[in-house]
Amino acid sequence: MPAPKPSRSFSIDGASVLVFDDKIDACSAAADRIAAVIRDRVSASGKAVLGLATGSTPVPVYDRLVEEHRAGRLSFAGVSTFNLDEYYPISPLDPQSYRFYMDRHLFSRVDLAPNRSHVPDGTVPEAALEAYGRAYDGWIEGEGGLDLQLLGLGRNGHIGFNEPTELDLDRALALPTRPVKLHPTTIADAAKDFGGEEHVPRRALTMGIAPIRSAREILVLAFGPNKAGAVSGSLLGEVSARVPGSLLRPAGPRVTWMLDPEAAAGLDRR
Ligand code: F6R
Repeated sequence: MPAPKPSRSFSIDGASVLVFDDKIDACSAAADRIAAVIRDRVSASGKAVLGLATGSTPVPVYDRLVEEHRAGRLSFAGVSTFNLDEYYPISPLDPQSYRFYMDRHLFSRVDLAPNRSHVPDGTVPEAALEAYGRAYDGWIEGEGGLDLQLLGLGRNGHIGFNEPTELDLDRALALPTRPVKLHPTTIADAAKDFGGEEHVPRRALTMGIAPIRSAREILVLAFGPNKAGAVSGSLLGEVSARVPGSLLRPAGPRVTWMLDPEAAAGLDRR
């Protein structure tokens, strides 16, 4: 199947914004871009390094990558992956853990080596969390950095679990991978998965703003009317840690926003 084309495209502050007819088209285009990066990087250097996201948004991306793999058109043999985040504390065997999600949607369905898929570990001892975050960033650097980072966007504008804060811009842009407290909006949005807000872990480990921004290419996916405010706040509002998605705007890697018409609705006023 050829890659679906966006129905509209424009640029904001150097970022490409692609609006597709629906989220399946956007996810297919994102998967095709990821597959192209894997093929190019593996043929050029023998390996490709991906930053991956969980949540409801990228599920069709992983389905299409699996289809490509099953059709014999895509191998993950040279690929390493680093996921954005994980609840804390949580067991990798817990069906709500992001490790479980990744195994279910991608890792167990493709030929990715088990020691090349990295998801922050929700079982790290409390006292080792900060050191673990630094080590995670070191592993990414040791692989030569991320060729491509896939992102979703929280309703409150979070990327990974970098939640809105009052930090000044320089400090926000330098945030490393670390333990964080989840924002009330994030806890409310996760309640359906955990069978009630009271069961949602209050903390998480998240890749920081700095390692996310150091990726050579970033794809941000956002769909549905619930994301319209976070999308317009990220792309048209002030660049500020209060809307973490806006931190992708200061000059950096190539950023492409892939949206459906509902999520893009707030951009029409630009
Ligand atoms: C998940 C992640 C989060 C989600 C965001 C949107 O790994 O990093 O930032 O991308 O919360 O979640 P969904 O896709 O469920 O709307």
